[in-house]
Amino acid sequence: MIVNGEHYKTVWYDPDTNIVYMIDQTKLPFSFEIVELKNYRETAHAIKTMIVRGAGAIGAAAGYAMAQAFVENDEVAFVQKAKEVISGTRPTAVNLFYAVDKVFNAGRISVSEAVKASFEVAEEDEKNSKLIGEFGNEVIKKGDRILTHCNAGWLAFVDYGTALSPVYTAAEDGKNPFVFVDETRPRSQGARLTAWELFHAGIDHRIIADNAAAFYMNKGDIDMVIVGADRIAANGDVANKIGTLGRAIIASHFGIPFYVAAPSSTFDNDCVSGAAIPIEERSEDELLYHTGPTRDGIMTEIRLASPGSKGLNPAFDVTPASLITGIITEKGIFKPGELQEKLRTT
Ligand code: MRU
Repeated sequence: MIVNGEHYKTVWYDPDTNIVYMIDQTKLPFSFEIVELKNYRETAHAIKTMIVRGAGAIGAAAGYAMAQAFVENDEVAFVQKAKEVISGTRPTAVNLFYAVDKVFNAGRISVSEAVKASFEVAEEDEKNSKLIGEFGNEVIKKGDRILTHCNAGWLAFVDYGTALSPVYTAAEDGKNPFVFVDETRPRSQGARLTAWELFHAGIDHRIIADNAAAFYMNKGDIDMVIVGADRIAANGDVANKIGTLGRAIIASHFGIPFYVAAPSSTFDNDCVSGAAIPIEERSEDELLYHTGPTRDGIMTEIRLASPGSKGLNPAFDVTPASLITGIITEKGIFKPGELQEKLRTT
């Protein structure tokens, strides 16, 4: 993705210096900064604190962190401990565990195999995101108005993204898509990250309050919904950012197509249904406080809620397969119920 005239990926790794680089997503959209992480502990901490976030991007970062550990010290006890630390950063996106396992297993052969595997994870993510864009573009018509939730754009992956990748491809195709961007409280990934991406890509969009989606669907202003996924169970149930389930229920009520875009690394055959997907509970502070610049540009944290009240902050919810029109993957668009079979045979 081009930022300030330069091509960037969300996360990248230099094995010669053993440094992982990433765009600091906690600073966006107010400032564009790159952080350098000198060892696996720093990279794991960056995943936990959401300097990098989004299923594919944390998968790539976790794979690089595992490679950093092997480069630092390939003794069994050291890399085993590193695997536990990296795996303990965030529980819901399965891409993280896929990446850690792949790099760890490769590292059993040699350190250079671990490094090679970490690059494969990131390259696969990028390649699959691009293909998702091409398949997703097939269901977008000229002038379509698309609602998206959270950020499943290029910031959430290594490049291109999933839910936004079809939008980018459609725009390149001259279809002029318009995007309704759910604010996505509590962390506002939609208002901050998706809006920033679309603005820089020159794609027409408006940020809407999370509560406004039903209003626009009822008016007939939304042609389809496309969201990402953090984990897809064997039966096609999808875990994604909190609020996704509500969008799916409303879309179903109004007969609006509801698509999920995700690479096959997000599919978890070991989870029989969505009920088995672990849902991350995050700090109540994300709900009760928010940070941003004053009108004078000074970064400030303010309390948004009544002093003394506590909050609850589940980070994801599960949308049942029955509400999903299709899952856009790097291998094609499939019904949730046929995904397991298609990913195995295609
Ligand atoms: O908590 P986050 O920002 O890491 O959330 C993950 C997501 O980015 C979303 O759920 C997204 O829609 C899934 S695809 C990256």
